Amino acid sequence: MLNFDFKKYNNKFLDHSNMHDYDDAIDVIKRRFIQGDLSYWLDAKTYIKDDELSKIKEIANYVRNNADVFVVIGIGGSYMGSKAIIEALSPMYDRGKPEIIFLGKNLNPNEYVETLNHLKDKEIVVNVISKSGNTLEPSIAFDLVYKIMKQKYGEDELQKRVIITTDEEKGKLRELVNIKGYTSLVVPTIIGGRYSVFTPVGMLPIVVSGIDVDKLLIGVRNANNNYFDRAVDYAVVCDVMYKNGKEVESFTIYDEKMMYLGEWLKQLLAESHGKEGKGLLPIVNINTRDLHSMGQYLQDGKDIIFETVLAIKNNATIQLDDYSYDLNGLNNMVVEKVCEAHQNGHTPSSLIWLDVLNEENLGELMQFFMLSTIVGGLLLGINPFDQPGVQEYKNLIMDELNK
Ligand code: PA5
Repeated sequence: MLNFDFKKYNNKFLDHSNMHDYDDAIDVIKRRFIQGDLSYWLDAKTYIKDDELSKIKEIANYVRNNADVFVVIGIGGSYMGSKAIIEALSPMYDRGKPEIIFLGKNLNPNEYVETLNHLKDKEIVVNVISKSGNTLEPSIAFDLVYKIMKQKYGEDELQKRVIITTDEEKGKLRELVNIKGYTSLVVPTIIGGRYSVFTPVGMLPIVVSGIDVDKLLIGVRNANNNYFDRAVDYAVVCDVMYKNGKEVESFTIYDEKMMYLGEWLKQLLAESHGKEGKGLLPIVNINTRDLHSMGQYLQDGKDIIFETVLAIKNNATIQLDDYSYDLNGLNNMVVEKVCEAHQNGHTPSSLIWLDVLNEENLGELMQFFMLSTIVGGLLLGINPFDQPGVQEYKNLIMDELNK
């Protein structure tokens, strides 16, 4: 369950009368979601069908029984969602087998040298994920890992150990599947990379990690059924902030295991809204760590920031002998006091509590943010589904390589 408070630490900053200016626009947007062209976003089946999920569970079973290392290759939306969920929900230590390695998210030679060396003597299964099938970074990573695998395994074995997640018809990776008969999964055409965490893109790595995806999907359905209106309210709050000069949104997170969720949020917002000279600039703060660095700016720096605070109400706890709070109580008290302090400066906060950090709540939270990002983009008057700026850099590099 999620608990939202968009008022307590925002009240000094939000002119609530202004929020009624949004009524007509919101009415139109809601109708598009409820019975119009965007209604597929409120149906969890858009992301994944039952038969695909069964296939993924079977593949994951094979991976868990046959791999020391599961190499997940992809960049941007092709890996950030699963990485966020795996980091948030896996134990901090001793994660067991298979080890999951994310590759193809940069061109860092040192990382490749170390990783390929690490893979050399291991049993490997690779999942290369690219909707377009031609993004440079995952192509390079796949070539390098594939080369090692071809030295180890025959074609029969490769057909099980190479899993390709890509478009149903187009792209180089689909051609490879057609030629070699490798195991493959389909990225739904209507879902862009950064919205694809609950499609086969995110699902296979998540199932391999041992996380219960059925519960995650219950969370997605809960968000669709119960939190759509709250996602709309939140999008309006963010838009009012933006239009009042608060152009930076800090996702302020009170659990380091959710650090990659912050990265996912950063991508979701920046890539969806940052276009045509518009858009909030997302940043991430991990507290209480960053109270001792960014906290100074949030309290006292330039007046351009608002916060969206993510905190967990009921964590495991430890008694503290010399304090009147246990550790969980202390952490929760700090969440509220920091919001109060920042409001006393000039930084308002919207507060989102997860009752516990588990599959269902994370599913709710991520679907909530995807819905609010789409609504926010429409309020901003941009297309929240494209990324022409990202394409631009991809094109320039390909032109250079094709010279
Ligand atoms: O959200 C997006 O569309 C992007 O971040 C893509 O996921 C990213 O550029 C990778 O693209 P592809 O999956 O085509 O390799």
